[in-house]
Amino acid sequence: MTQLPHSVLERARSVPDPADRCPVHLVPDAPAGPVEVAEAKDFLERLYAESKPATPFDQRLSQVASEIDRTGSYLHTAGELRFGARLAWRNAARCIGRLYWQSLAVRDRRHLDAPADVAAECIEHLRDATRNGQIRATLTVFAPDRPGRPGPKIHNEQLIRYAGHRLSADRSGAVCGDPRMVDFTERVKGLGWRPRARHGEPRREGAFDVLPLMVSGDDVEPELFDLPGDAVLEVPLRHPEHPWFADLGLRWYAVPAISNMPLVIGGVRYPAAPFNGWYLNTEIGARNLADQDRYDLLPLIGRLLRLDVSSPRTLWRDRALVELVRAVQYSFDADGVRMADHHTESERFITHVANEERAGRPCPTDWSWIVPPMSGGLTPVFHRYYDPPDDALRPAFLPPEG
Ligand code: ARG
Repeated sequence: MTQLPHSVLERARSVPDPADRCPVHLVPDAPAGPVEVAEAKDFLERLYAESKPATPFDQRLSQVASEIDRTGSYLHTAGELRFGARLAWRNAARCIGRLYWQSLAVRDRRHLDAPADVAAECIEHLRDATRNGQIRATLTVFAPDRPGRPGPKIHNEQLIRYAGHRLSADRSGAVCGDPRMVDFTERVKGLGWRPRARHGEPRREGAFDVLPLMVSGDDVEPELFDLPGDAVLEVPLRHPEHPWFADLGLRWYAVPAISNMPLVIGGVRYPAAPFNGWYLNTEIGARNLADQDRYDLLPLIGRLLRLDVSSPRTLWRDRALVELVRAVQYSFDADGVRMADHHTESERFITHVANEERAGRPCPTDWSWIVPPMSGGLTPVFHRYYDPPDDALRPAFLPPEG
């Protein structure tokens, strides 16, 4: 495989100084207090309003209340956990893929909190979810926070991400790989990680080195675990008409699995609850590979397409962007890896909003996240207003912390 020349991905940019941030092992989360009965009750009310659990509501509520009284927390039934996780997805105001919220597969691993066990199950999660390209929306739940005993924590923002290698010693220097991951990459290198050799090539830092998992348990000191190759499906990118595109050696992974957003259901907080859907073409083509503070490939693609890059008014960036997104979509489709396109997914989201309206529920939505990063006005999601996002809505995936 032709490697993307380093020079292509080396950019003079200023990278935040990792020394400005607390090293990860020095910032334990605030200890969990007891669960609020009112939050448990709110959740049970919603569950019983939308489904018919076997145990009567009053009986379940008093069980939960006395368990909280005794232990400071309570154990969700498998049904409560599944419903809660699906509602957290339904409530995610930034997600355009919510039509499928009821199909979320939930893997209950609440008995696990040791980093090695968590990492092993994250790897199984990826295998289960990938299914050779027929990606299934999947969530794995690990041990919750309990009073005096925090649950495990996954420090990666996604289970799969590519390293960003800072190439020069000074902090304004160039990066090989994903600039977004420079801080994280330096943390794992500080813990001894080095990229592995790929396909018999000599070991060296490349533009698409899969980062290791970084997990901490009760004792807070994080441990690293490499992802085995068979758990990480990747798609080499090529273009339907331009053979040179494949020679760039670009690739992306198949499964986006967010791993640093705590899941809160009925007052119980699960700090490690990685979840995935499948990619939308524009996430990779119009953001990850195109943003100036990510792989920043438009200038290169524009030149290779022989576009007139002398002025923004020739719209060379726009034209290069379309070809980049086409290449992403074409390659995923050709490899049989599930990927949505922004036109179809926008239509489906409008269907979801209509479903929710019919069910008499609000559908909080963040316009700025829902409208695709290219051709916004060509999609129906652009042309309307939505119920505003509500940070207090539960169940929810919470913003990552520290
Ligand atoms: N935008 C993120 C990325 O490009 C992934 C976010 C989740 N996306 C999804 N389709 N479930 O890696």
